[in-house]
Amino acid sequence: MNVDRGGLVAGNWKSVNMTIAKSDAWADEFNNLFSDGDNSGLKLVLFPPMSAAYRLRQRLLELDHTRTMIEMGVLAFGGQDIAHVEGEKVRFTGSHHPNLLLDVGMTYVLLGHSERRMYAQEADGVIAAKLNLALKYGLKPILCVGETLEEYEAKRTRDVVSKQLSILDTIAPEHRGDMTIAYEPVWAIGSGKTPQAAEANEVCGFVRQVSRAKHVIYGGSVTSANAADFFGQSEIDGALPGGASEKASEFFGIARVAFDQL
Ligand code: PGA
Repeated sequence: MNVDRGGLVAGNWKSVNMTIAKSDAWADEFNNLFSDGDNSGLKLVLFPPMSAAYRLRQRLLELDHTRTMIEMGVLAFGGQDIAHVEGEKVRFTGSHHPNLLLDVGMTYVLLGHSERRMYAQEADGVIAAKLNLALKYGLKPILCVGETLEEYEAKRTRDVVSKQLSILDTIAPEHRGDMTIAYEPVWAIGSGKTPQAAEANEVCGFVRQVSRAKHVIYGGSVTSANAADFFGQSEIDGALPGGASEKASEFFGIARVAFDQL
């Protein structure tokens, strides 16, 4: 990590487990783990399911340490997806307009996650439309890019991420600095496997060069046990843990490792 750039650790609560009851318990545990001194150039962002989002933020605002973190801008919230079309006449069943994310206190949005590319057949055109809509409403996008195992084995990582990053050509140059890119090898997501930290660092450096984004973070089976390997790298500004972030103690552990680097 780099002290001047600061860092970002984002938790993607994507599993079926994150009910309102679970997220309440998460909030209480997380609040108890922190103390008010735990601030630095690190930003923490939670991406809860929409079903638990409003209540989660309210609960964290009621607790002493997490309220301070939210008020100081250390802890923020984001949506896992947004609609890709809008307009006066557009009604879009089942999709959330950026205004609805803002309405529940979300300031970030995840875009291009491999699960949306895979299961919702999201192509770059749709992701580009979401990106532009997010920026229009002032949301900070985290764009996920990464190669499949087959592409990794064929040494096509750079080609694949370059193509995925080419949608940045559709946004105004001044927005580049608002962007975070998450490099997430598809084969590392939820698998317990990761690339070597030095290898992830090399791809993150390439992503930084191509994207000129503010932060480049790594995602894919990050835990409190391996976070130090990644955060010790010069081009990695943080992480996007999924499974591990659903346990308050693990998310805290990953954040703690990041705090120690900054
Ligand atoms: P994982 O998920 O940490 O469970 O591999 C990463 C992600 O959802 O981006």
